[in-house]
Amino acid sequence: MQKNKSGNEMNNSNKGKKVKKIEQLTPSQIVEELNKYIIGQDNAKKSVAIALRNRWRRQQVTGPLKDEIMPNNIILIGPTGVGKTEIARRISKLANAPFVKVEASKFTEVGYVGRDVESMIRELTDLAVNMVKQEKTKEVEIKARENTIERLLDILIPPLRKKNNLPSRPAEGTASISTTTTADILQDEIDSEEANRQTREKFRKMLIDGELDSRVIEIDLTTSNIPMMQVLGPIGLEEMGLNIQDLFGSIMPKKTKKRKMTIKEAKTILEQEEIQKLIDMESVVKEAIERVQNSGIVFIDEIDKIASTHKSTSGPDVSREGVQRDLLPIVEGSTVMTKYGPVKTDHILFMASGAFHSSKPSDLIPELQGRFPIRVELNSLTEEDFFQILTKPENALIKQYKALLETEGVQIEFEDESLRAIARIATEVNDQVENIGARRLHTILTSLLEDILFEIPDKRKSKKIIIDAKLVEEKLSKIVMNRDLSRYIL
Ligand SMILES: Nc1ncnc2c1ncn2[C@@H]1O[C@H](COP(=O)(O)OP(=O)(O)OP(=O)(O)O)[C@@H](O)[C@H]1O
Ligand SMILES: [Mg+2]
Repeated sequence: MQKNKSGNEMNNSNKGKKVKKIEQLTPSQIVEELNKYIIGQDNAKKSVAIALRNRWRRQQVTGPLKDEIMPNNIILIGPTGVGKTEIARRISKLANAPFVKVEASKFTEVGYVGRDVESMIRELTDLAVNMVKQEKTKEVEIKARENTIERLLDILIPPLRKKNNLPSRPAEGTASISTTTTADILQDEIDSEEANRQTREKFRKMLIDGELDSRVIEIDLTTSNIPMMQVLGPIGLEEMGLNIQDLFGSIMPKKTKKRKMTIKEAKTILEQEEIQKLIDMESVVKEAIERVQNSGIVFIDEIDKIASTHKSTSGPDVSREGVQRDLLPIVEGSTVMTKYGPVKTDHILFMASGAFHSSKPSDLIPELQGRFPIRVELNSLTEEDFFQILTKPENALIKQYKALLETEGVQIEFEDESLRAIARIATEVNDQVENIGARRLHTILTSLLEDILFEIPDKRKSKKIIIDAKLVEEKLSKIVMNRDLSRYIL
């Protein structure tokens, strides 16, 4: 497994061949990856890892049984700010699989009642298409770059024959005039052809090295965009997954338009054009749909928001149940129309999460409950967890602040005792005011560091700042003591 410093890098490197797809990671490798960002919550990590690996296992099964094996849909249950969404976020960074995260509560908003739950599958498909397209782009990039340079050369130094309108070989008629003349012409042509070739080579090098980047040239651009049409399109069409531009883009005659621009700009634009030419969209779409159907992951966050607390026949609960009913066929397996074609949802993995403060998973309609057979509880975070969360994860808050201040040439150091104090205060405030989990660390650190962040670089000239326990107490204890104050500040 390739080491990853940040999720982004990981995502980029995923495009390379070296990194395994998430499904090829063994369960313990997946947990190991999650451990880099999430402290504790071992049960949740384990279930998620098993569910992901099972998809790979299913793919290896042959025969009719393969279609019978259902995904291990999971519900993550746990209080606020303990890492539910964070787990989803990390999986998405890890996953080479198409992944979308939707907020179930979106579907209950006024005007959105029961609306288009299917859109998440469309989103997933869009994503997969882009993903595959990007991979293919990587494959053709070098060729596209070569073609681009070739096109630019054609503009700068037109190939001889095109320029002079000469046939490639002397016409037969010319040959019969006199042998010497023909030979001369031929020699001339070869010379100038050779000269032309040499100039082209010289320019090719300059183009590649970027020496000509600031020069302005005129290029023919194919414009198939019809921006006006989009304004006219009724909103409903978009929901259907149709896009007027896509619809007519291929039918409308492609116009070419001359435009002046720098060679640098031209390179980017022409390269895109060349890439489009080299990629076979049909196979991209085919592969993308395949990927969605077999390894797509949908994360439904805040699913507790669509659970109805009591069985009533009117009010918002009806719409909540409505959303659940809309959700059901998708989770159970159905076919959703997307602009790329029908997509079957039978083997898409669904993960849901919710705090379930005021409702319980059993408040979901039974059919939906049955479709999420695995329930995992996430624990509340302890003081020790907080201490680790501050420093251990690859994106740990303390690391973030260090990096921020480093840009000012300032080194900030947190003594262990100060971190302990921060963790303790976070626990206290969570107990006293409201438990918002690890989010509390953010608010505490911002209060703690506010002055320092403000005073650098003008008012504070020191190049090294040490945060010790005393400073933490000084800055925060007054606020912590006063419940009202901490309610607003921390
Ligand atoms: N176990 C953990 N390890 C590391 N960081 C964590 C952990 N739990 C929470 N965090 C941090 O706290 C922030 C909030 O966590 P997250 O978004 O996962 O909460 P949540 O469980 O989804 O809560 P909610 O139910 O309110 O949506 C994250 O950005 C993350 O930085
Ligand atoms: Mg969340």
